[in-house]
Amino acid sequence: MTTALVSPAQLTDPELHTTDDAHALWQWMRANAPVHRQPAAELPEFWSLTRYEDIRTVYRDAATFTSTRGVLLRPAHLGDDPGGGLTLALTDAPRHKQLRGLMAEWFNTRAVRGLEGYVRAATRTVLARAVDLGECDFAHDVAGRLSLSVICHILGVPDRDHEDLYRWTNQAFDAHISLVSHPQLMEYFTEMLYLRMEQPTDDLVSALVNGTVDGELLTEEEAVLNCENLIGATENGRLALIGGMQAFLEHPDQWARLGEDRRLLPGAIEEILRWTSSATHSMRVATRPCDIRGTRIGPGDRVVLWLPSANRDEEVFHDPYRFDIARTPNRHIALASGEHFCIGSTLARAEMHVLFTELLDSVRRIDQNGPVRRLRSIAVNGPESLPVRITAH
Ligand code: HEM
Repeated sequence: MTTALVSPAQLTDPELHTTDDAHALWQWMRANAPVHRQPAAELPEFWSLTRYEDIRTVYRDAATFTSTRGVLLRPAHLGDDPGGGLTLALTDAPRHKQLRGLMAEWFNTRAVRGLEGYVRAATRTVLARAVDLGECDFAHDVAGRLSLSVICHILGVPDRDHEDLYRWTNQAFDAHISLVSHPQLMEYFTEMLYLRMEQPTDDLVSALVNGTVDGELLTEEEAVLNCENLIGATENGRLALIGGMQAFLEHPDQWARLGEDRRLLPGAIEEILRWTSSATHSMRVATRPCDIRGTRIGPGDRVVLWLPSANRDEEVFHDPYRFDIARTPNRHIALASGEHFCIGSTLARAEMHVLFTELLDSVRRIDQNGPVRRLRSIAVNGPESLPVRITAH
């Protein structure tokens, strides 16, 4: 960790998150300004929370802190998120529970167990290609392709279209635009919705178009936005895979330790989640007056929860800046807490489990082959590019 002198105002500068300096700032804020008011500028005014306990408390009190006005900071002139009240992440009880019920059976432990064969086959395909290439970008050639294939499979996108979806999703991310603003993705899912409406199959898109909330079918807009949201949320799954690989490349002793004792893998996955904390922030808006650490928060105030900070909180984690695959306890909140707890958590863990197992089994060496480039974003953080050379046995 570097100790560059930065001020809390810089937390919203995407450039800061291309370095490790945000951690130095969060450490300072936890000690000196755990409930910090950020005045309005391009972004509206908001409170920053950096301590684990405060962040967890807000997540677990959805009645006081609504998700319907958006869960990510947006420039003030854009107003509230137009997906408010429509997508799973941007809905409150009781609608949230019903919408989540429509999707949950695609992501629960049983469903993910049923997907393991697909995940393993997809992992072997991307790894075989990476080995053939010799030098590749772990971010694009392995993690990105793998996580997108899996979510496409769940949604019901046929394998032949995965490459198109992958390209469009990357174009949207590269241009820093919402996936919904990408016409090809929108058109693709709209067409698919109508096909599934007429002829439902065993996939999540069919469940979205034919399931009901409050006794009513979802609108076309709701169904498309939720598909887009699932593809977008998968970015976190991809970042956990890349960030995990980077952590092992930087801590070869931990990789060797895992190779010697595979029973450490579930704990290693939790440590990767804590260490990478790829979702940088969640936002909530207060619905009524409340106090956080003696500071009065008013109705309508935005509260921003900085997750990587919570997961390095020295009051909760022993030696938090150490990557330790045998860390116990490890009650990180990288996947949130409370009713909006990540619906893709079991899937993300399964993808990591399969990928790192396959790498240990089928690869002789993985070497970093160029500099890591980190994402320039305040929403998600982690490597955008991780050049590696993979050598098979
Ligand atoms: C390790 C990877 C992942 C991380 C770190 C992560 C993190 C999070 C976090 C922090 C939230 C709470 C957002 C909020 O309420 O403000 C969340 C919710 C969500 N995640 Fe993930 N996520 C990951 C993987 C995935 C994957 C693979 C999917 C794909 C299905 C997914 C889909 C979702 C959805 C749909 C929600 C909204 C849940 C709700 O509001 O009930 N996530 N995730």
